[in-house]
Amino acid sequence: MVGRAVGSKLVEVGHEVRMGSRDAGNEQGAAWAAEAGGGDAGGGGSVGTFAEAAEFGELVVNATPGLVALDVLEAANGGSSGGNLAGKVVWDISNPLDFSQGMPPTLGVVNDDSVGERIQRAFPDAQVVKALNTVNAQVMVDPASLGEQTNLFICGDDKASKGRVIEILETFGWLSGDIIDLGDITGSRALEMYLPLWLRLMNTLETPSFNIRVVRGES
Ligand SMILES: NC(=O)c1ccc[n+]([C@@H]2O[C@H](COP(=O)([O-])OP(=O)(O)OC[C@H]3O[C@@H](n4cnc5c(N)ncnc54)[C@H](OP(=O)(O)O)[C@@H]3O)[C@@H](O)[C@H]2O)c1
Repeated sequence: MVGRAVGSKLVEVGHEVRMGSRDAGNEQGAAWAAEAGGGDAGGGGSVGTFAEAAEFGELVVNATPGLVALDVLEAANGGSSGGNLAGKVVWDISNPLDFSQGMPPTLGVVNDDSVGERIQRAFPDAQVVKALNTVNAQVMVDPASLGEQTNLFICGDDKASKGRVIEILETFGWLSGDIIDLGDITGSRALEMYLPLWLRLMNTLETPSFNIRVVRGES
């Protein structure tokens, strides 16, 4: 869902996107690439293995389940010879949801760690940026659909890499003034531990199409 939504939007705004998969020949991937095409803005979609996608990209988006993200990124990096992620922004959208005990899911990484941090520790030559994991896939790429301005959160150790992700978010329709920088990559804990509240809100509101706005009082 996220790979499709974000990948299609990136193509729409003019980027070349290679979608990675465990099986480069999978039918869903081929169907996405044919559909994504590439418009007047000049982008285009293609598919490959996780390693081929990471080698291709200037920026790598992780849109896989958080509890398998390290395995996927290890494959994406190119296995033991590695190097596909070095020097690149790795934009992590994942959540550590554990569905093994049924619904609602629990969080498999919490409190003093997060998937965002685990990725940064595993790939110290990459710049991990966490953003977008707090909204539904459709809201990610069309925030205006909510009808009001809402907030998005971002964190990561490297300011320039966060700036690059914010530039892309602006092309998705997010306003830079609505994006709150939570500091270094340990902010991922807060972003991932928001999920139990997000899941409750979805049940209560009976839709995944919502987001929150933070109002700052005078100090
Ligand atoms: N869905 C949302 O609206 C939403 C919103 C916010 C955040 N997120 C987070 O974004 C991430 C992606 O969500 P999604 O709904 O797009 O997930 P998804 O469709 O279930 O999975 C995305 C891709 O991850 C790969 N994958 C799944 N299980 C795997 C495994 N065991 N080993 C290796 N690769 C595996 C699959 O690629 P192949 O099958 O092609 O190999 C799959 O297409 C998750 O961490 C989710 O919590 C989702």
